Amino acid sequence: MADQDCIIELRGVSKRFDDLLALDGIDLGIRNGEFLTLLGPSGCGKTTILRILSGFEAPTEGDVFIAGRRVNDMPPERRQVNTVFQNYALFPHMTVEANVGFGLRMQRTDRAEAARRVADVLRTVHMDGFAKRRPGRLSGGQQQRVAIARAVVNNPLVLLLDEPFSALDAKLRKAMQLEIKHLQRQLGITFVFVTHDQQEAFAMSDRVVVMNEGRIEQIGSPQEIYENPANLTVARFVGDINILDATIAEKINGVRYRAVVEGSSMPVETRRSFAPGDDVKVLLRPEDLRVWRAVDERPEGPFLTGRIEETVYKGATVDIIVRLEGEDGGKTLLAQEYFNEDDQEISYATGETVAVTWVNGWEVVLPDA
Ligand SMILES: Nc1ncnc2c1ncn2[C@@H]1O[C@H](COP(=O)(O)OP(=O)(O)OP(=O)(O)O)[C@@H](O)[C@H]1O
Ligand SMILES: [Mg+2]
Repeated sequence: MADQDCIIELRGVSKRFDDLLALDGIDLGIRNGEFLTLLGPSGCGKTTILRILSGFEAPTEGDVFIAGRRVNDMPPERRQVNTVFQNYALFPHMTVEANVGFGLRMQRTDRAEAARRVADVLRTVHMDGFAKRRPGRLSGGQQQRVAIARAVVNNPLVLLLDEPFSALDAKLRKAMQLEIKHLQRQLGITFVFVTHDQQEAFAMSDRVVVMNEGRIEQIGSPQEIYENPANLTVARFVGDINILDATIAEKINGVRYRAVVEGSSMPVETRRSFAPGDDVKVLLRPEDLRVWRAVDERPEGPFLTGRIEETVYKGATVDIIVRLEGEDGGKTLLAQEYFNEDDQEISYATGETVAVTWVNGWEVVLPDA
């Protein structure tokens, strides 16, 4: 039996193309009404998952369920799964409303009913003023909206979107991200979105599936994945992160350990279990590091020592690159500080000695795999 809360389930799905294993044992439940994003580098298998969901590819192994039914052998047109393609694939000789109404005409939907649904969906995507235009006379963002209108007009169970913004410039891309997110909430249709852009995935999704080399590395909310990456692959892929070498020195209690981090004794917290002598990685986001001008200005407690290598102004924030003390030159850390009222100027001299601290407990400790 398939999971009742899931509109789609993949169970042990593998896909082999000749000697290439494109998907390797994918287990994934997609919840009804959620905005789910598949995130991962080029070639990791994102499009292959969409093609298996839509029925254009069959899994080599495993099962696919849609709305509780095993659909491995069900043809695409019977699945109630629609796809918005990267190139939009609009018919150039048809008007916007004819493009959007095409599927309804094919299904011989009553003409008045079809006209009403087309008008409704064009209003939803803010394209009601363009019903009589042809796609060639629309901007990229407008064509994108028509493509989405065409895909949702017959109320699919699931909408699949494969890198739909890749043809748009950065500004329009940001605007479309918000628009699609609102549209999804408004329609209540399950969206499965594909991107290799982490910020895009985080901005839009209820849950993100981080993929690598045909496997799922982690599934979670953007916050869960950002704050608690399951492994180093995920940590490196989702945003800037500092990865410090450390060795567990002693277990203090429950979740608290003392570790030697880049040569300095520091407290760390983790729910993972380690023994003294274990090599680990301590992960810290740039915004979680604090840099203290002079070593004697820092607050009480342990710290790392280094020298300012570079500062990069970014408007609201400043990136601070610190080279830690160390025999072989030391590792560089990236810290990011926000300007605030009583701290108008963040100006460090290159080479200045600084202390680096973080709020105890904000670090992520992973086995050194
Ligand atoms: N029809 C096919 N025949 C042979 N190999 C294929 C086929 N389709 C995909 N592949 C291979 O399977 C792997 C996964 O491809 P897929 O298109 O799913 O990647 P992707 O994550 O969508 O990448 P991108 O971000 O570049 O679009 C790749 O190595 C790809 O070359
Ligand atoms: Mg792809």
